[in-house]
Amino acid sequence: MSARITVLAGDGIGPEIMDAGLRVLAAAAEKTGFEYSLDAQPFGGAAIDAAGHPLPEQTLESARAADAILLAAIGSPRYDNAPVRPEQGLLALRSQLGLYANIRPVRIFDSLSHLSPLKPERIEGVSFTVVRELTGGIYFGEHTLKDDSARDVNDYTRAEIERIMHVAFRLAAARKAAGGAGIVTSIDKQNVLATSKLWRIVAEDVAQHYPDVTLEHQLVDSAAMLMITNPARFDVIVTENLFGDILSDEASVLAGTLGVMPSASHGEGPSLYEPIHGSAPDIAGQGIANPISMILSVAMMLRESFDREDAASLIEGAVQAALESGVRTRDLGGDASTEQMTAAILAAL
Ligand code: IPM
Ligand code: MG
Repeated sequence: MSARITVLAGDGIGPEIMDAGLRVLAAAAEKTGFEYSLDAQPFGGAAIDAAGHPLPEQTLESARAADAILLAAIGSPRYDNAPVRPEQGLLALRSQLGLYANIRPVRIFDSLSHLSPLKPERIEGVSFTVVRELTGGIYFGEHTLKDDSARDVNDYTRAEIERIMHVAFRLAAARKAAGGAGIVTSIDKQNVLATSKLWRIVAEDVAQHYPDVTLEHQLVDSAAMLMITNPARFDVIVTENLFGDILSDEASVLAGTLGVMPSASHGEGPSLYEPIHGSAPDIAGQGIANPISMILSVAMMLRESFDREDAASLIEGAVQAALESGVRTRDLGGDASTEQMTAAILAAL
């Protein structure tokens, strides 16, 4: 059976890095006999321009019918004061597809460890994953803006917390089976928020099902601190939507660049894979963007949606080899173009 993949290139550097990702996908597929078809659709600012809406109906239909979705990036300062913003398309897509579990792995490439803002001894051994709840909480509560007051509602149900906890515990159990620590760090603001009190209770309940995994709790403020002072202590982090948004950006800079981190969002239906960085409008169209997080998102898709460990590790190995050979885009301290970085990865493949 041929895999159907919806392709959302989006805005800014999106089309450039998507092109690189699809070329690597084609090469890896040819080597491993992975069969697929692509359906490219407008999304984000590009879709506002083309169709007046960041998530046109036909884009949503394509995504629903797909086996997986590849997204590059959306957003542009052109829409900063516009009535409809590209980001609304992303939030609508997450919510329409029920993509409640956002997985953001943090790993440090040895060949890039000098780029980290932290001292080498602090980042040694850092390898953890942020599991962010993506379709609930304050992002999707009622938002009211009046002249002299504003209100955002943060809601969570037990069921919403339970399902994201199961994702985190299953991941920690799998990591433990593969030699990892098997620790879930649940992050909340239980000393202040009711939603966080429920979060902590449900975390304890779910932990009963996973006797091999250790559960610990951290308050979000002190977790933000620990991520800098001792990031190697984390294994799997699970947290609500807003805290996860903030902490996953903090986590992503440990590697010294946003340009090498992929992510996955899972729900009941097709999963979505995207770089964790944005559309970088300042360098769009110049052919200098780092394509690696897009390419690693393709690898994550092959592994997690299509169970193609062969093709996924082929791509990851090629990225590592290309970096070790010294080819670097500007964000990594080199001067390679998107094309040269992609070519090096294709050659290694
Ligand atoms: C992210 C982004 C989005 C979010 C924005 C673009 C709405 O920051 O994916 O982390 O806040 O979730
Ligand atoms: Mg974010």
